[in-house]
Amino acid sequence: MAPRVETMTKTRKLDRKSTQQLMRLGAHMAALYPLALLIWDYYQANLGADPVREILLRTGEPALVFLILSLAVTPLTILFGWKQLHPLRRTFGLYGFMYVALHFTTFIWLDYGLNLQFIWDGVVEQNFVLVGFAAFLLLLPLAMTSNKWSQRRLGKRWKTLHKLVYVIILLALIHFWWLVKNVYYMPFFYSAVVTLALLVRWQPVKQKALRFQRRFRNRKSGRSAPTS
Ligand code: HEM
Repeated sequence: MAPRVETMTKTRKLDRKSTQQLMRLGAHMAALYPLALLIWDYYQANLGADPVREILLRTGEPALVFLILSLAVTPLTILFGWKQLHPLRRTFGLYGFMYVALHFTTFIWLDYGLNLQFIWDGVVEQNFVLVGFAAFLLLLPLAMTSNKWSQRRLGKRWKTLHKLVYVIILLALIHFWWLVKNVYYMPFFYSAVVTLALLVRWQPVKQKALRFQRRFRNRKSGRSAPTS
């Protein structure tokens, strides 16, 4: 390889690596911010008249947001070709799980005092809690197998298992719709984002988006697009 081309390739690789590192750092900071704020507000006694409910709400929403973000990474890659985002799928998924685990812990510990009978009644007697609980249970195997070792061990079954994320997000949305009263714009907003993300994964839309992206990239680099 000519030295100039070699240097350019190296610079591009370095650029891609530092962009990826920056994005990862940004993702970690964004994911930890709600937790840091919650801890801060707890120590400042700034959680309002019903701190347990406040903690439930302030762990539930990030849980939903990060699960949806993990689902949105692939559609964003399809739409804009941002391949660097791909590693964030797992990061977002794991943060989603972390917030769900905190949410669940708040429910069983702070709200129901770890009393198994109370917890059982609380889960089965409130439909929205039952649905959230089902989402939590389904999320467990995904969190446990979200490492390279499990991916290798499970092979094709890993992909099938991780398709459960669609069911989990659907259950989480039902959980949210069910528990809100009167003001529905947040569940509506999240449902719209999920619908859009799923639509982009639908083959006809996906193919069109990929073709458009290829044509756009070819035009930018001055090449003509293939006719097929
Ligand atoms: C994937 C799993 C789950 C997700 C994504 C999720 C998400 C949410 C969201 C977004 C909220 C409302 C936050 C707000 O209004 O700002 C919420 C509230 C709540 N969730 Fe979950 N949740 C999940 C699982 C669970 C589980 C397992 C339980 C208990 C067993 C639970 C119990 C509750 C309760 C009690 C509330 C508060 C209701 C209220 O007082 O208004 N959730 N959750």
